[in-house]
Amino acid sequence: RKKVTIQTIQNLYKKNEPITVLTASDFPSGHVADTAGMEIVLVGDSLAMVAMGMEDTNEVTMDEMLLHCRSVNRAVKSALTVSITIHTYPSISILHHQNASTSHSPQQIADLPMGSYETTPEKALESAIRMVKEGGMKGVKLEGGAEMASTIRKISQAGIPVMAHIGLTPQRQHSLGGFRVQGKSAAGAVKLLRDALAVQKAGACMVLIEAVPPEVAEIVTRRLSVPTIGIGSGNGCSGQVLVQVDMLGNFPEGRFLPKFVKTYADVWGEARRGIEAYREEVKSRAFPSVEYTYPVSKEVLEEFEK
Ligand code: KIV
Ligand code: NA
Repeated sequence: RKKVTIQTIQNLYKKNEPITVLTASDFPSGHVADTAGMEIVLVGDSLAMVAMGMEDTNEVTMDEMLLHCRSVNRAVKSALTVSITIHTYPSISILHHQNASTSHSPQQIADLPMGSYETTPEKALESAIRMVKEGGMKGVKLEGGAEMASTIRKISQAGIPVMAHIGLTPQRQHSLGGFRVQGKSAAGAVKLLRDALAVQKAGACMVLIEAVPPEVAEIVTRRLSVPTIGIGSGNGCSGQVLVQVDMLGNFPEGRFLPKFVKTYADVWGEARRGIEAYREEVKSRAFPSVEYTYPVSKEVLEEFEK
């Protein structure tokens, strides 16, 4: 299987073909994102909530991120020989094995968690190197705009691709006053554009834009010469990202979902239905029925029962 590289992403960008990005936090979620054809798998620090049950992303540590990165990395690597994809034609779906040479293994990028990069560019570079050497990642993402320029430059100049994350930056929720739309005022839109241009100049290879009105994100996208990846920022960005458990509906009822999340499946409902059916069948002894057991000969049984 061909690996998606920064060059592959550049080519998609030049062709104006949207770049597909999805988060993953462990082996199964990495494997399914890989086999379903994602170009970039992002080990986002949102795994603090969706995989570890924490309140917000600020609690997760570098070592915890690395553990998840390694699990995701094994999945993306293991999908090297053959992948199963569903091709949807106007009226039929065919499940088939895709030709290995036409299939791509996604680029892997991880979030630098809070506390691993803000203090100095040197510290940030050390964290980025750990993501590559210990986590198996190809690049890192970090939150912040113009003020992170020297850090982005330091990491990029060491040869590690950096995705900058601007707009709504969840690690800074307390100074932003919560999860709020960014770039909504004229001044906010100007700040967003300045941040985008600054991180691009510093060497960011992509710019993630979170929770920004679509018109503003589209103008920022047009002003840049590197791809933008949108979340909650409309379809004028160069690509899109969602948090996998959110778009799969793999969460209990009552979980707060931002307006921008489209839910494409009901994985939670399906899992719960399955587990409840199993529970019922165990209680009623309907499971395991004979087809789920190993046979033994009458002679052996007679001998055994003596
Ligand atoms: O942590 C995360 O999942 C993110 C999103 C913007 C995709 O950063
Ligand atoms: Na994140």
